[in-house]
Amino acid sequence: MHYQLGLIGYPIQHSLSPWIHERFLTNTNLSGAYRIMEIHPHEDFSEQVKRIRQSKINGFNVTVPYKQKIIPYLDQIDENARLMGAVNTVVNKNGVWTGYNTDGIGYVRSLRSRFSSLNEKAMKVLLIGAGGAARGIYYALIQADFLHIDITNRTLTSAKEIKALKDSNVYTSIFSLDEIEERLHIYDMIIQTTSIGMKPNENQSIIHLDHIKKGSIVSDIIYQPLQTEFLKQGEKMGAKLHYGHTMLLYQAQAAFELWTNMNPAMEDMDKELIKKLRGDE
Ligand code: ATR
Repeated sequence: MHYQLGLIGYPIQHSLSPWIHERFLTNTNLSGAYRIMEIHPHEDFSEQVKRIRQSKINGFNVTVPYKQKIIPYLDQIDENARLMGAVNTVVNKNGVWTGYNTDGIGYVRSLRSRFSSLNEKAMKVLLIGAGGAARGIYYALIQADFLHIDITNRTLTSAKEIKALKDSNVYTSIFSLDEIEERLHIYDMIIQTTSIGMKPNENQSIIHLDHIKKGSIVSDIIYQPLQTEFLKQGEKMGAKLHYGHTMLLYQAQAAFELWTNMNPAMEDMDKELIKKLRGDE
């Protein structure tokens, strides 16, 4: 079998997904290719999806700005993706398209690969941000048995919408960005999911980390730059750091498994991706 895989989104010419998935194909001894299928916002989306339907594609990833827009074109949607209202992976089985979302599970996998023992039930977690990424991570953390997840965001109504996803066992309070800095000492893990600090604004940080708890985990899902200002501040305060590029790898691994039922090894991927990202900096 020759796997035909790809990515839709815009702009995606610099996406790292082809690089990652082609390595997965090699590492699992599978034959295949992963193509960029950029759809310009001015193009007719339905027509482009129809063209993909007519091709022999086995599966594809979906990124910004089409994670919601793809949903009406699917035959089935996985429960998680339905709850997220966003799809990042489509599997084609004999012409039946099923949509999934591997972002949240990818985040949790990356966390577990970095920290072998986490006391999920006891840890107090703070999620910064309330966009699509935060939503996926919040839900995946709940499924991974985290019980205390607070949210802070510029827009409080978006944070409240995320909180509405939770089941009754999970404890979530919402705080403004202004009030959270003084409370940071209570958290065992702080996860940054906004776009603040992303290249070319690498000197920015959404909040200051002067009051974090000693030995806490500081995590940023941004991977360009690799070491964000947010992570630099965490490092200065003696936190354990969790880097954004690992989420990128593990959400890709989860997608690859859905397409091929193969579990690509990750050992060298982390180092190789760091090298590649440093080269691009
Ligand atoms: P994604 O799907 O990548 O999570 P998104 O849905 O656009 O992207 O969410 C972006 C997140 O970054 C949100 O939490 C957003 O805050 P709002 O909900 O208040 O918009 C946050 N964000 C973006 N720009 C911001 C800024 N200048 N200041 C504070 N937060 C910002």
